Amino acid sequence: MTKKITIAIDGHSSTGKSTVAKQLAKKLGYIYVDTGAMYRAVTLYAMRKVMVTDDKLDEEALLRHLAFISIKFEFDKDLGYGVVHLNNENVEEEIRLMEVSNNVSKVAAIPQVRKMLVAQQQEIGKEGGVVMDGRDIGTVVFPNAELKLFMTASAEKRAERRYNELKQKGNDVSYEEVLKNVEERDHLDSTRETSPLVKAQDAIEIDNTNLSKEEQFDKILSLVKEKTDA
Ligand code: DC
Repeated sequence: MTKKITIAIDGHSSTGKSTVAKQLAKKLGYIYVDTGAMYRAVTLYAMRKVMVTDDKLDEEALLRHLAFISIKFEFDKDLGYGVVHLNNENVEEEIRLMEVSNNVSKVAAIPQVRKMLVAQQQEIGKEGGVVMDGRDIGTVVFPNAELKLFMTASAEKRAERRYNELKQKGNDVSYEEVLKNVEERDHLDSTRETSPLVKAQDAIEIDNTNLSKEEQFDKILSLVKEKTDA
């Protein structure tokens, strides 16, 4: 018998967490939840209202608006997973822009924002059969997840991957700019007071600096099998 488990994937930015999570969800028939997309969508809302810019964050204003921010995933048949909607608008593309990446850590550091999104994540995943990726899934959202992975790779390798991705989408960015963003986000995400990025004690670390996507997927799939094959 194969039982449905909760898979928590945490780790540094641009380590390919979401790619692996999507692949796994598809293979296992699980729900995929990109929690970073939720923080990005709240950030986009705040940017549109000019509550957050490169040098300021109007936390009070954002908190007053929290009740009016609805974040939902709508299943996209073509993509095969749920894409994020902000107040019923599909923002899946827009939240990936560099401007959003530059501001998201500030918004993700606000305890009330985290509280709201964590509650939603717990609700979505309460039945199990879910692959969730983020920074605090194995530590805060699902501390009892049956399988916890912590993904990492060198900052240079991650910046290179992100740079290629952004270029492919036609974004005009430099490698140096992307590397700076990766390093800054690492720092902010790991040093914030509320739910900093830390590896759960029982998480399995996967350093994919020198792993191909296939090697990585095979390795993770065998870890899943160990947990699900009763
Ligand atoms: O995974 P990502 O790069 O799309 O995440 C965007 C930002 O959101 C990242 O800088 C950290 C934050 N984040 C978080 O604090 N907690 C999560 N569970 C997911 C993302």
